[in-house]
Parts: sequence; structure tokens; C-alpha cells
Amino acid sequence: MAPSSTEGARSREQAWIVPLSDVQVDGEIEQAVLGVVRSGWWSMGPRVAELESEFASFCGVKHAFAVANGTAALHLALLAIGCGPGDEVLVPSLNFVAAANTIGHTGATPVFCDITNENDLNISPRDLELAIGPATRAVVVMHYGGHPCRMDEILEVAERRGISVIEDAAHAPGAMWRGRMCGTIGRVGCFSFFSNKNLPTGEGGMIVTDEDELAEKIRLLRSHGMTTLTWDRHRGHAHTYDVVAQGFNYRLDEIRAAIGLIQLRRLEEQNARRARLVAFYRAALDGANGMSMPFAPEPATTPAHHLAVVVLAEGCPRDEIRTALAARGVQTSLHYPPIHLFSAYRELATQRRLPHTEAVAWRLVTLPLYPHMTEGDASTVASAMLAVT
Ligand SMILES: Cc1ncc(COP(=O)(O)O)c(C=O)c1O
Repeated sequence: MAPSSTEGARSREQAWIVPLSDVQVDGEIEQAVLGVVRSGWWSMGPRVAELESEFASFCGVKHAFAVANGTAALHLALLAIGCGPGDEVLVPSLNFVAAANTIGHTGATPVFCDITNENDLNISPRDLELAIGPATRAVVVMHYGGHPCRMDEILEVAERRGISVIEDAAHAPGAMWRGRMCGTIGRVGCFSFFSNKNLPTGEGGMIVTDEDELAEKIRLLRSHGMTTLTWDRHRGHAHTYDVVAQGFNYRLDEIRAAIGLIQLRRLEEQNARRARLVAFYRAALDGANGMSMPFAPEPATTPAHHLAVVVLAEGCPRDEIRTALAARGVQTSLHYPPIHLFSAYRELATQRRLPHTEAVAWRLVTLPLYPHMTEGDASTVASAMLAVT
């Protein structure tokens, strides 16, 4: 039987009392999906175009392209700015592996950078500058947990040293930095619509830019370098096509776009709910039992609050704490095991020292957070944390 309005994972999956994240299923989403299924046009078409147009105006940016996922967005961003063999691209190691992998897919080499400190888990602008060498073409900054990076310092370094800035805004739809939307501050911005993200569609993503030339490359590479799309030909707007580049199939489909349109309209309210829950966690946990919560509120930024992350006291047995939380029905996660220490990247680990990343990564625990989580749920989590740390 289909879940009724606003039921979450707890009705479908009994394992956790408070899961790490959850998607809201309700009649509006069900009807939107049914509408697309019944329309008979499932691949990229009018709803994708509508989502792109609404996302572009939401961000205040000229071009937005819906893509299959956030990884595809990063790959296209790197290719659009011209990354390739012989180039180096800077990226924080305390990060999801997608940016590093896609840098590798272009033939470039990722160079890992440190975070600022245990209160600011974003890339350190100072370390970024130290990592720049003659082969550096770009930096892919990541707004960790939806907290904007120190973009003024990053832009200043990038401009002075002649490198491009790509924003991995997978965690940051709707996050604002000094009145500017995250994802629109660098040359290209990349978003993920994965199920656990702030704007979930299952799989999906968006890539945005103000530069016409980059937009044209992205448009072509998203769909095999073809000059027209199936949807154009279906509408009689074109009868044939040329292939002008070796591109990919990174398109989004109509079913996900229909869900995305609803999620986009809900985004600001849902981010505000996330903010209230994080404020609750902060009041309960920051400073308790030697714990801290990074990213103290700053007046000039509005985070998207994708994650609620706690830094445990030094020497705390993190695995045991997570096991004790799981025994109480509280699901947790880790954001992130540093990329430079994964097997596939270990040979690059000797490149540079990342003392802040290596000191704090083992103390991070991500707590449950999703917009329809109640204060009661947050209180269950906070009490469990206080009991087991
Ligand atoms: C910071 C970051 N970048 C990129 C991605 C990749 O997004 P996707 O899973 O949609 O490919 C993710 C997804 O988890 C992410 O967290």
C-alpha cells in the first residue's frame, strides 16, 4: 500500500527510531509523478525545461542545465573550463569523492587541500594558495554541509593566481553568502539532487553558469555533443542533428524533474526547518561533554544546513559511540573519511600535509537531519549523544 501523506522512512523501514535522513512522500509528489507517467513523455522534455528555468531564476543565474546527478555536473564543469591531461585541480580532501574522481576522468590530477580548522571544515584559502603550482588550472571548492566557503578570500587568490573556481554546491542549494547564492559565485556551480540532499529527486543534479561560452559547451556535452534533442525533433523543431563533440548521456528525465519542481518550491521553507533543528542541536550539544558543533552562526551567511555535524572530544572512541547510538535507534554517518587516505588515492597522499583534516576527520559524527524531523526526534538524538559521549 502506498504511504499516506507526509509519511517518512519510519513507516516503511522500521530499523531506526531516528534515521539519518528521510524523504517526504505526499499526495502532491505522487500526483506529479503519475502525471508524467500518464503523459507518455518520460525522457528530457518540458518539465526538465521548466525546472531549469525555475532553478536559474531561483539562483539568479543565466544558465541552468539539469543533469543525471551531481557527479555529472562536476564532470561537465571541469570539461567546460578546459581541464585535461597535465592540469592540476585543487580540491579539499574532507569531501565526497565525486570531485576527485571526475578530476581524474578529465585526465587532470587532483591536489588535495586542507580545511581551515575544526570550527570551519571548508577548504582553507591559505592552504589553497600554498597548493597552487604552475600546472594548477582550477579549484573545486565544496560548501561543506551547506556552509558557504570563505569566497572573498578564495576569489581573491583565484583571480590573482589565474585559476578558475568551480563550486561543488551539492550540499548548498539555497545557501547564501553575502547576498549571493552558493553555486553562482565561481565560474560554474554544481548541485546534487540525490535522495538525502536538500532538494531530493532520487538521482539528479543541476549545473549553473553565467558564462555563455561555458553554457554552450555544457549543453552539448550533456547530450553526446548532438546539436538537437529528441524532444526538439518530436515537436518538429528539428529533423536531424550533427555531432560536434564527444559528449555523454548526462540528461535528467521528466519524472525526476516533476519531483524537482515541487522540491524547489519547498526548498526555502525546508532549509529554514533544518536551521531550527540545527539550532536545537547546537543549544543541546555544543560545549557538552567536550563536543563542539562547527560553523558557529555568522551574520553574513545563510547556510543550507544539509548536515548536522558534531566534533567529538579528542580521544573519544567514535566507533563505540556510533554503535551505542545505533543501539538506541539513532542512525549516524561520517562526512567524510579524507579522500587522500582511500586506497585509490593513497599514492597522492604524500603530495602535501593536511594536518587539520587529519586531526579532525576521526572526530566527526553526522547526526540525523531532515526537514520533517520533529523537535522530539532531535531531542531523542541529543539525549542519546549526551548519554553515550
Ligand atoms: C559534496 C558532494 N559532491 C558531489 C556529490 C555527487 O552527487 P551525486 O551523488 O548526485 O552524483 C555529492 C553526493 O553525495 C556530494 O555530497
